Amino acid sequence: MSRREGYVIDVPYPLHFHKEMQPVWMSYIATSLACRAPDIGRPYRYCELGCGAGINLLVAAASNPLGEFVGVDFNAGHIALARQAAQSIGLTNVEFIEASFADFTKQDQQPFDFIACHGTWSWLPPQAQASILKALHRYLKPGGLFYLHYMCYPGATRLTAIQKVLHEVSLAMPGDSAEAVRHGVELLRSLADNGAGAFEDNPGLKDELAALEKEHLTYLAHDFLTDFWRPQHSADVHRIVAQAELTYIGSADCFENMDSLSIPGNIQPILAGLPSTALRETVKDTARNQHQRLDVFQRQAQAIGAEQHLAELDRLQFMALPSMPPAGGLVFATPIGSIPGPEAIFDPLLRALGSGPKSFFDLRHLPAFSAEPGVLLQALQMLMWGSYVHPLRADKTTATASARFDEWLASESIGLSLVATCGTAVMHKR
Ligand SMILES: C[S@@+](CC[C@H](N)C(=O)[O-])C[C@H]1O[C@@H](n2cnc3c(N)ncnc32)[C@H](O)[C@@H]1O
Repeated sequence: MSRREGYVIDVPYPLHFHKEMQPVWMSYIATSLACRAPDIGRPYRYCELGCGAGINLLVAAASNPLGEFVGVDFNAGHIALARQAAQSIGLTNVEFIEASFADFTKQDQQPFDFIACHGTWSWLPPQAQASILKALHRYLKPGGLFYLHYMCYPGATRLTAIQKVLHEVSLAMPGDSAEAVRHGVELLRSLADNGAGAFEDNPGLKDELAALEKEHLTYLAHDFLTDFWRPQHSADVHRIVAQAELTYIGSADCFENMDSLSIPGNIQPILAGLPSTALRETVKDTARNQHQRLDVFQRQAQAIGAEQHLAELDRLQFMALPSMPPAGGLVFATPIGSIPGPEAIFDPLLRALGSGPKSFFDLRHLPAFSAEPGVLLQALQMLMWGSYVHPLRADKTTATASARFDEWLASESIGLSLVATCGTAVMHKR
């Protein structure tokens, strides 16, 4: 059997680390958006729905001693790999539960401060999505954060023809899901090379196919072969998640929270005049031709006032990551083109962070920012987005498992290094 509830189970999903779903990052995002974040300076609980082989939870558990982590997945092979890894690293603050989302909602669980779901929602049948809503309803604390990654329109439109061919090949041909993808990609290549109208009318489709040809077959199997491949419009997803009494507060991709940078300049005045969040998000997706989103929702979201917001920001500490460049000539390659980082802003910031971790309070008292904490916040978010800088964990506890974690990463040839003081990991350069 290659599918369960329509989802591919016969080949493993490769490990993918996402810094945006880590608790320190999510908590930072809530604070940056002037919402009261869960207190991660005290013990807290975090759950990932659809955790695969668990790499994101393993990083989180190894680098956040105060967190208690729970992963849920119905793929027995994924859960076995995750449990083996946790055991060989010696992690005691992570549990992997082999269960469908429907079965998980029937369990007795202590409530969570964070629930995350990455790479899963857009590939689920409606009843499994309903189980996720039920899990949110039952298990997310008031003030808790929900991170949801999904594929969205209009950007995902370009993948629909490719997905249909790959999925039909997998239903019609023998072999496992990886074999099916290989046959499907070969079929698409012969269509592209022989002038099929879909490729002629949409030249971008050839680039998509070329990109797919470089990916792992097992990754493509999970990405394209499920029976319920369903990109959605963000406004529709927000309405669905609102059924679990959660409010959309912003993106876990901090670049996307900065409209003044992430939306083309001539569209910003159009955006500013729009009367609803749903319409604004739809227009933003259209302006960026967005194909995936990393949305953050909060149960009983509590906005904090300007004074309190500044006080919360002042408490945050930021640290340079190994990839932070020296001062001078910084350029950000963003989805809407290259954005040069003005030297008057970035050079003092890079120099200050280059000499050790600094608080927001320290940094905003640099001459470049003295009157403009908003400019500092934007500059830091660009550096975070570029993986040059990261907020530090709020607590000062020692992550005792971190040395064994790095040994495990090396033994598995996983190109990551733990940055335990920041509750995250960094990817090695390819
Ligand atoms: C593409 S993987 C994502 C893994 C991980 N979140 C990541 O981003 O690397 C989706 C996972 O969801 C799991 N899944 C799909 N439907 C499920 C369901 N109804 N109940 C439990 N797990 C499910 C799959 O087994 C798979 O491991």
